[in-house]
Amino acid sequence: MIVILDFGSQYTQLIARRVREANVFCEIHPFNYPVDKIRASNPRGLILSGGPASVFSKGAPHPDPGIFALGLPVLGICYGLQVMVTHFGGQVVRSARREYGPARIDVAAGRDLFAGLSKTLNVWMSHGDAAQRLPEGFVSLATTANAPFAACADPARRFYGVQFHPEVHHTPQGREILSNFLFRVCGETPDWDMASFAESEKRKIRETVGSERVILALSGGVDSSVTAALLREAIGTQLICIFVNNGLLRQGEEERVRAVFGKTRGLTLEIVDARRQFLSRLRNVTDPERKRKIIGHEFISVFERSARKYRGIRYLAQGTLYPDVIESVSVKGPSATIKTHHNVGGLPKRMKMRLLEPLRFLFKDEVRELGRRLGLPADLLLRQPFPGPGLAIRVLGAVTEERLDCVRKADHIVEQEIRAAGLYNSLWQAFAVLLPVNSVGVMGDERTYEDTIAVRAVRSVDAMTADWARLPEDVLAKISSRIVNEVRGVNRVVYDITSKPPATIEWE
Ligand code: XMP
Repeated sequence: MIVILDFGSQYTQLIARRVREANVFCEIHPFNYPVDKIRASNPRGLILSGGPASVFSKGAPHPDPGIFALGLPVLGICYGLQVMVTHFGGQVVRSARREYGPARIDVAAGRDLFAGLSKTLNVWMSHGDAAQRLPEGFVSLATTANAPFAACADPARRFYGVQFHPEVHHTPQGREILSNFLFRVCGETPDWDMASFAESEKRKIRETVGSERVILALSGGVDSSVTAALLREAIGTQLICIFVNNGLLRQGEEERVRAVFGKTRGLTLEIVDARRQFLSRLRNVTDPERKRKIIGHEFISVFERSARKYRGIRYLAQGTLYPDVIESVSVKGPSATIKTHHNVGGLPKRMKMRLLEPLRFLFKDEVRELGRRLGLPADLLLRQPFPGPGLAIRVLGAVTEERLDCVRKADHIVEQEIRAAGLYNSLWQAFAVLLPVNSVGVMGDERTYEDTIAVRAVRSVDAMTADWARLPEDVLAKISSRIVNEVRGVNRVVYDITSKPPATIEWE
């Protein structure tokens, strides 16, 4: 495995993705991760990420100096190169001009990092500072018109640095450069993939839980479903899945979960009907944050109560993914609570259970690949995200059964039409929101005074930012006419044309 130290680059996770695509396992840790811990995890090499800081600035991030004495190969990328050069007594200077965008490098020798590649390469640069004098033992491997050290190395100690970003797709041969580091320099073998991950993870799960039972909150979403499928293969009848129908779910959700997990022999799938309870707690609540808190608490209490009848359970499984686990320095910083996200993080402590998180090292697309291997249906694995508080935050204002039914029907129409137009997989989300606004319309010869549905469709890569989708007019027309015709009580449909920021994806 490879350890990646994160100096705050927006590309750190991308480095990890590239290493894993080369079938090598890697982990991301903060830049100051202690050297003892690195040694204990027995990596074959280290990668130092880029970062926004300047090595000159006060408080600039520096790694534990011991990392250079581990005898391991090191690849420094951008800021990572500058940290290495500074550490060994070379000189980094502030450039007058920031170099940002495409550049061409001339490679001195087609060996090591550049083995098998051509003499000139297109790369992506994004830096202010640059190395001006290399430390003793280091040589230049590549140059650009502006930079004498676009890449450098101390081959004897196996230290390598690149000023550009091999992990981004604007560096077309970046994969080869990273692979050269992994296989030629570090001597890695490309044997990590989802099949080997599943096997080793199943073994670990069995060793950990022995003959104990494991309980899992199954929501029907991708993460909890893949967790369930993995545990089903690992421990079969020892798995208890609890699905809480809180009345805030999309159309057909309970049936879908039953169809996938209800027929596995020996597996306990308990479906809890808590619709009344959630609805009564939400009565007359209009504040979005209160809705979210109530739903979160209610979920914990329903789950606890359902779990209690299975006595003596010691393990709670959760579908936590790697992006939630990484202590990335890039995401630190002042961040206000914009919305309280619904999660069940408090549960294991409260219930005195140990937590089992078999997906905690995987990225979302790896989870999907694992799900495919475990035989889950493709439409489940490719589902758009759905918020924990469900339709309650898509009924603006007070939540009632009728209003939930209304938004659920409209949402189903949006999904059907988006799928029919072949747009489902290219959109991050598409859904309906029921507004607390009545307006005047005319139907037949009658004046109406009815509800308004807003349709929201966005494109996004990570939900941090999102762009409203320019849906084809005929798709919008179809959605609109179906909603006013098929959903009773709605006489107007509007389309949300705001991006995030300044809006958020959900309306509450
Ligand atoms: P916002 O509305 O903050 O949403 O732009 C960003 C993404 O997160 C989803 N979302 C949630 N997911 N629990 C979740 O699991 C929640 O409480 C929650 N709130 C919003 C939202 O659907 C979008 O994909």
